[in-house]
Amino acid sequence: MTHFARIVGTGSYLPERVVTNAELEKTVDTSDAWIRERTGIRQRHIASEGEFTLDLAERASLQAIDAAGIAHSDIDLIIVATTTADQVFPSTACLLQSRLGVHGCPAFDIQAVCTGFVYALSVADHFVRSGTARTALVVGAETFSRIIDWTDRNTCVLFGDGAGAVILRRDNAPGILSTHLHADGDYASLLQVPKGVSNNLSSVQAGTAYVEMAGSDVFRMAVKTLGRIVDETLEANQLAKTDIDWLVPHQANHRIIAATAKKLGMPMEKVVQTVAEHGNTSAASIPLALDVAVRDGRIKSGDNILMEGFGGGFTWGSALVNW
Ligand code: COA
Repeated sequence: MTHFARIVGTGSYLPERVVTNAELEKTVDTSDAWIRERTGIRQRHIASEGEFTLDLAERASLQAIDAAGIAHSDIDLIIVATTTADQVFPSTACLLQSRLGVHGCPAFDIQAVCTGFVYALSVADHFVRSGTARTALVVGAETFSRIIDWTDRNTCVLFGDGAGAVILRRDNAPGILSTHLHADGDYASLLQVPKGVSNNLSSVQAGTAYVEMAGSDVFRMAVKTLGRIVDETLEANQLAKTDIDWLVPHQANHRIIAATAKKLGMPMEKVVQTVAEHGNTSAASIPLALDVAVRDGRIKSGDNILMEGFGGGFTWGSALVNW
């Protein structure tokens, strides 16, 4: 018997505090016009002091559980994609498991930066397809604001905080049609936080472990790579570009998103875009955008949805889902 994984519920959460471009104009040498024109971003949500990745993940998860109409005890796998875990250990997934009152099932974090959600979805899909799990909670959650140098205009205007979650259930029909994951560590230095637990923990504690990015190199690679993964995904499923109903891309920059849509020959009305309101929320951006389009009724039963992401590593990946 072939099993598939279907997304049966989505949820998301954004911190209350909104930081507009105008607010950033007061602290760094930038302008609302520059940020809008180069990135499409108008504002981002930033977690308040004392609000952590786990809190965001919990809010998004509760919404997804509610939308799926499942009991917490039905969950038999929890995967959290995050770059900004609250603790070195336990994993955010274990802490979330406790918050949700779930016991005993496997729970672990995945770190693939902005591709994290696609990685987590792919791993969960394999668990469900193999019969190892029946009901999986997959979350992308970030407090990226905590690893941003707020005096660096090259990076601070781009990112925001948030969380998105989905519930996957085993089904006889798809569901997730295919997932495609890639990485190339040779590009590590173009987009990184160059400090970590075993490398200069004291500067991490002092709050100097920040995102460093070669913006235009990352931009070029993202456009090229995402174009390739679109082809790979369509080919694997023997589908034409016109078979895709919605593109739900990682929300880094509206120009990168537009280039991928162009590659698909897709009008921008068929692209779910939240980058203007959310900024780049890393692993949270795809499930956040997905939840917005599910809740406002754009995504309907039977639609084919292409999700794709690109991020630090470099990592990149896609998921094709029949809704
Ligand atoms: N406000 C005003 N000027 C800024 C600025 C800001 N916030 N950030 C950079 N600039 C300046 C640069 O210093 C540079 O000035 P210079 O020419 O005097 O040196 C100029 O704008 C152009 O910089 P450049 O990097 O060539 O611009 P760009 O068109 O590539 O846009 C990014 C910059 C960051 C928006 C763009 O490269 C990008 O989106 N890259 C991908 C980032 C990304 O998606 N990262 C995450 C991947 S998951």
